[in-house]
Amino acid sequence: MRKFLTTTAVALAMMAGAAQAAENVEVLHWWTSGGEAAALDVLKKDLEGKGISWTDMPVAGGGGTEAMTVLRARVTAGNAPTAVQMLGFDILDWAKEGALGNLDEVAAKEGWDKVIPGALQQFSKYDGHWIAAPVNVHSTNWMWINKAALDKAGGKEPQNWDELVALLDNFKAQGITPIAHGGQPWQDATIFDAVVLSLGTDFYKSAFIDLDPAALGGDKMKTAFERMTKLRSYVDDNFSGRDWNLASAMVIEGKAGVQFMGDWAKGEFVKANKVPGTDFVCIRYPETQGAVTFNSDQFAMFKVADDKIPAQMAMASAIESPVFQSAFNVVKGSAPARTDVSNEAFDACGKKAIADLADADKNGKLFGSMAHGHANPAAVKNAIYDVVTREFNGELSAEDAVKELAAAVEAAK
Ligand code: BGC
Repeated sequence: MRKFLTTTAVALAMMAGAAQAAENVEVLHWWTSGGEAAALDVLKKDLEGKGISWTDMPVAGGGGTEAMTVLRARVTAGNAPTAVQMLGFDILDWAKEGALGNLDEVAAKEGWDKVIPGALQQFSKYDGHWIAAPVNVHSTNWMWINKAALDKAGGKEPQNWDELVALLDNFKAQGITPIAHGGQPWQDATIFDAVVLSLGTDFYKSAFIDLDPAALGGDKMKTAFERMTKLRSYVDDNFSGRDWNLASAMVIEGKAGVQFMGDWAKGEFVKANKVPGTDFVCIRYPETQGAVTFNSDQFAMFKVADDKIPAQMAMASAIESPVFQSAFNVVKGSAPARTDVSNEAFDACGKKAIADLADADKNGKLFGSMAHGHANPAAVKNAIYDVVTREFNGELSAEDAVKELAAAVEAAK
């Protein structure tokens, strides 16, 4: 009898193990800030409700640089996670290596082709096959302003460079840090997205999408770097290495006037129970109205053992559900990855994000974010990061930065 019980227990345990293997996803991501974790929780709970357990593999580091290093090690060791948060060209690079699975069946069944915008599909598909499930659309050319500080400065939202500088001077006079910033290459590059875009949509396209040496090495680029130097004069002494969410907290707490950051920053404001129009103001970086530099978080699905594929497909399907798209993106600060999701549950900034994206797309003013891997593959992106960060930190003059930028991009292409 005892032997029978033991044998039964072992058999049951084995069955449970097999079930767990079939109904578990291991997810590698860099969503570790308060707002990001809250959004991720929406996904975890959604999957748990469908009987799929979650093995968490967080790798801190905004923009995902560190996460991509860990991923490389995992895949090299023959142990790819089920799903990996990934940006733009990185997805295509992994697809090229043949490391990703195939989502065609679920995509066809659910009609993804019709509802996911072409701008995202160019990164969710490789060789005509679906390889990743887009979760959202973020954009980088935003400003997050402390409302009380803006009111004290007269309440006018800056419409151009001179008005921006005047506002920053006013914040300084108020005794707060004008710009909340974290000195990390990807954060410097995020500001650079907006600064370059503000000098013209054609200029952004020539420089970052077409990698035209004349744009990368020309006078306008020099102006962009000079503006970066000017902005650098408004950050505090402790900015170096600071995480982006701590910079958001400075604005939330009224210690700083503004943060230039993608709309994941709004996730931090929302997490802190702050309300747009009351506690903070979201506007586009001056002279970028109507244009959007976007990035989309997608879950790239890796090739996994056959028994893990059902859970992987269920995760992909859950991500694209319109109900989930609304619930998740309201918390994350992003816009839905589908065009047919109601904006009703979104706050004023979210509604603006959704409308701006649609307009920019319609008017040919929607561009992949250089800083977040949607303009170029990693080698080129990292070459740009390097020059931008050195110039921002005063190691290069604007003039030398322009020369180095053109040369570094040429070498990395
Ligand atoms: C991602 C966001 C994330 C941010 C900061 C971006 O690259 O797209 O989802 O919140 O990095 O970690």
